Amino acid sequence: MKTSASLVAMSNYRSRVRPPERLRFRAANDAPRSDGEWVKCRDGRSLRLRPIHPDDVVALQRGFSHLSAEEIRMRFLHALTELPDALATRLCQIDPDREIALVLVDGPEVPEPEIHGVARAYIDPTTDSAEFAVIVQKALNGQGFGRLLMQRVIAACRARGVREIWGDVLVENGRMLTLCDSLGFRREPVFHGTGLTRVRLAI
Ligand SMILES: CC(C)(COP(=O)(O)OP(=O)(O)OC[C@H]1O[C@@H](n2cnc3c(N)ncnc32)[C@H](O)[C@@H]1OP(=O)(O)O)[C@@H](O)C(=O)NCCC(=O)NCCS
Repeated sequence: MKTSASLVAMSNYRSRVRPPERLRFRAANDAPRSDGEWVKCRDGRSLRLRPIHPDDVVALQRGFSHLSAEEIRMRFLHALTELPDALATRLCQIDPDREIALVLVDGPEVPEPEIHGVARAYIDPTTDSAEFAVIVQKALNGQGFGRLLMQRVIAACRARGVREIWGDVLVENGRMLTLCDSLGFRREPVFHGTGLTRVRLAI
């Protein structure tokens, strides 16, 4: 068993090698935030790709109401018929130390803006890894938005000092698995019987 002295020595050693996780992630997080970028849809519309805001609750719920049961199952890995206020509020009020959430949202000219896509990462500072999840409404599929959201969330993780990003994807979700393959993720079919494949990318 390690003595308390050796544990203190270990913690001193760790702090000389690199800053404590909390400071490292906080420092990156305190950097000025980009307000995002405009992206063009095939039909000519422009959408904003930006970090989620606390006041995006209604736009998130609007977007959710246009998802099919299948899309929801692929994203959340279980059925969810509505996005209640409390959950929507929580999803919009991220913990900036631990979470990244990027959205594809209508521009200010749209009277009732809607969120059309979301990519998230939940950072575990003890392992320097982050779990991701992404969704793009079916109407916008095949226009490169899934790829773009993934690229942006990976870049945001990298900027925070995250070393690995991972996610669990249903084995029948060929589109997502193909996307992950092309982004360099490797598949780990470790969850026998769960119907999930874990994908991992060192970043
Ligand atoms: C998976 C998902 C995010 C992809 O979004 P998208 O906007 O269509 O993605 P892209 O347009 O960037 O295409 C991504 C890849 O899908 C593949 N793809 C595109 N159209 C396809 C099709 N009709 N059938 C199968 N694969 C297709 C392509 O290989 C493409 O890769 P490429 O960029 O190398 O060509 C989207 O379908 C979705 O939200 N699905 C439901 C939720 C989900 O599955 N989330 C993932 C769980 S973490």
